[in-house]
Amino acid sequence: MISVENISKSYKDIEVLKDVSLKLDEGEILALVGETGSGKTTLAYLIAGTIKPDGGKIIFRGKGLDKINRKEFAKMVGIVYQSPRDSISHRFSVFEAIAEPLVIHKVFDDESAGKIKNALREVQLPVDDYFMRKYPHELSGGELQRVAIARALILEPDLLIADEATSFLDPSVQAKILRLLLNLQNERGISMIFVTHDIGVARKVSDRVAVLHDGRIVENSPTHHIIENPQHEYTKRLIDAVKSSKISDL
Ligand SMILES: Nc1ncnc2c1ncn2[C@@H]1O[C@H](COP(=O)(O)OP(=O)(O)O)[C@@H](O)[C@H]1O
Ligand SMILES: [Mg+2]
Repeated sequence: MISVENISKSYKDIEVLKDVSLKLDEGEILALVGETGSGKTTLAYLIAGTIKPDGGKIIFRGKGLDKINRKEFAKMVGIVYQSPRDSISHRFSVFEAIAEPLVIHKVFDDESAGKIKNALREVQLPVDDYFMRKYPHELSGGELQRVAIARALILEPDLLIADEATSFLDPSVQAKILRLLLNLQNERGISMIFVTHDIGVARKVSDRVAVLHDGRIVENSPTHHIIENPQHEYTKRLIDAVKSSKISDL
């Protein structure tokens, strides 16, 4: 589905990504793992086409990302941003936030209200008018993240990019949202890039893990393989750190 080929990206004189290559198959869940500042969000934005690489190229279904119509691409790729409080306008009600992509793509019609209710049901949120008229500040972190997921899925994308979608939530809410994403992936067969700093979370959700360290992909293999037999010293450290923490069941 996606082929990232020798991508580099700098901010001013700091090279954040160096010669990064990876592939994503149709229907596959790839976890992109690395510590804070390793360039995960930058790579996610490059794949989503919201920023451009300095070098290298990204191919989506055989076509260069720079040659694909932005609007068409935005329909095929949904993003759940790292912080829903920043990415969802505080001026939008729940209904409006989920409706916005339909409005932007000029496909809001008589059936949209029903579609939005379905999306809310899918992410296990209430569908009554009282809830749909709520504003972000009236929602919990978990509720707002579910709204962000419903919004990312409303155009029925083929690929969902989730950037630390659960990282800042309570562990119990995090587990629920992970399960929700996996169910949705299962039902719809969509591809997913799951960005996380937590290799324990990666193990639970992904088919394959790519590890970013110092701006490079230092490991990229099937998930069970990487957990049982990590090749790179950095991956071993990540796994040991999770094993020694009490909250994980790696
Ligand atoms: N827009 C930007 N301008 C300047 N530096 C940035 C920008 N975005 C990210 N960075 C820097 O690039 C590095 C990688 O950031 P990021 O991709 O957000 O990593 P991660 O998501 O893994 O935490 C960090 O050092 C960050 O400070
Ligand atoms: Mg990030």
